Amino acid sequence: MALLLILTISHADQSHGSSLKHGRSKPGYGRKSHGSVHGIKGHGSNGRHMGHGRNKPPRFNLPIISGPPLDLSPIIGPPSTPTPTTPSGLQVGFYKGLCPNKLVDIEAALTTKVQEHFRKDPSILPALLRMQFHDCFVHGCDASILINGLSSEKTAGPNLSVRGYDLIDALKDIAEAQCPGVVSCADIIAIATKEVLRMGGGPNYSIQTGRRDGLISRAQDVNLPSPFLTVSETISAFNAKKFTTEEIVILLGCHTVGVSSCGFFQDRLYQGTTQFDPIMDPTLRKQLMPICPKGTTANNSTFLDQNSQSSNIVDNSFFVQILEQRGILPIDQSLARDPKTVSFVKQFAQSASLFNSKLASAMVKLQALDVLTGSQGEIRKTCNRFN
Ligand code: HEM
Ligand SMILES: *[C@@H]1O[C@H](CO)[C@@H](O)[C@H](O)[C@H]1NC(C)=O
Ligand SMILES: *[C@@H]1O[C@H](CO)[C@@H](O)[C@H](O)[C@H]1NC(C)=O
Ligand SMILES: *[C@@H]1O[C@H](CO)[C@@H](O)[C@H](O)[C@H]1NC(C)=O
Ligand SMILES: *[C@@H]1O[C@H](CO)[C@@H](O)[C@H](O)[C@H]1NC(C)=O
Repeated sequence: MALLLILTISHADQSHGSSLKHGRSKPGYGRKSHGSVHGIKGHGSNGRHMGHGRNKPPRFNLPIISGPPLDLSPIIGPPSTPTPTTPSGLQVGFYKGLCPNKLVDIEAALTTKVQEHFRKDPSILPALLRMQFHDCFVHGCDASILINGLSSEKTAGPNLSVRGYDLIDALKDIAEAQCPGVVSCADIIAIATKEVLRMGGGPNYSIQTGRRDGLISRAQDVNLPSPFLTVSETISAFNAKKFTTEEIVILLGCHTVGVSSCGFFQDRLYQGTTQFDPIMDPTLRKQLMPICPKGTTANNSTFLDQNSQSSNIVDNSFFVQILEQRGILPIDQSLARDPKTVSFVKQFAQSASLFNSKLASAMVKLQALDVLTGSQGEIRKTCNRFN
């Protein structure tokens, strides 16, 4: 039975991030610079690894969305608790009939290309998930992360290992060939992310479209939570975007795929550092030490989900792992230890279906975060530059 999902995005709050307590205030993740940590083994990364974190005070105003009533599209599983909401203005099947050849199903054409790419390179899954998160958390899901330039979001420290730009460009080429000027880059990211998530074992949900591309992309606006924040600080960062604690926990469950570079977990391994984690699973510690020797800036990485059977699969084993003290990122491990989050962690670890349905709801919400719709923004001709 398909239940309706009520989005809980409010655009009324203009004080985005002003309550963030990113007390650690150096560049990168604040606690220390990870600029010298390079490369993601086996993931073809060549970018720098600064993680998601930044700490510039936010200063931009977000648009008040007053689009048409929300399309209440069915998704699998029960919805998250409905809360009064401002409609996002998105709808399922927005592009139907919008191409010059009205029979062209551009969403299907894009999806097919995504599937081909995933079959050749499944590491596109973590890449796009991360790209989607980074895009949506800064100025909303408006493809601002794609803009090239000396001080665009891409160039900010935490663009870290964001990858997947080439696939987005290839998808945009398909869209422009069949349907010029119609399909936003923001929707291309959303459609592609949704599809790789499903192919990687995650939930299948109806993707909403109708996003427009943003006109602003500034490195200084990139203010992503750091993996070194406490659970409380992380909750504050997400509360500023109207996410509940349960939604934060399930979204961090995206760390069921992908890798982390050494610099984000190194100090948890060794006695005498402020981050030393004495209750990390000893077997895991032994495995990680040679990958990430003390005091070095090793160009090495490890899976965020340490269940070796499913490190590349979207499933709830990440939650089982962190309950066994086998988390990699400090914030991931903290979720399983903090009284505010541990009960959610246990529920998701116990129930694959709950994991799936809550992840679907949270992804719909993330992908609708502060979107531009209607006549706002633009439809970029090329994803990496403004028209
Ligand atoms: C408090 C929130 C979050 C923090 C602090 C955080 C932090 C990080 C860090 C430090 C890495 C490793 C980066 C590197 O080594 O280069 C990472 C990787 C990743 N993150 Fe997050 N993250 C957060 C939320 C999310 C969310 C909400 C999603 C998905 C919607 C996500 C998806 C991913 C994925 C898939 C990877 C692996 C990337 C790859 O293998 O290429 N993260 N994250
Ligand atoms: C780090 O490792 C990756 C892949 O293993 C490699 O492509 C990259 O060149 C390395 N970077 C450095 C600075 O050694
Ligand atoms: C990410 O940022 C670094 C600078 O921190 C920059 O050198 C790199 O080109 C950026 N990556 C992309 C894909 O733009
Ligand atoms: C995924 O969900 C969509 C929309 O409900 C449906 O049309 C499609 O057939 C589903 N795909 C799979 C592989 O289950
Ligand atoms: C990277 O990890 C491998 C083991 O997987 C280890 O042999 C190597 O020394 C590590 N590199 C560095 C720079 O520590």
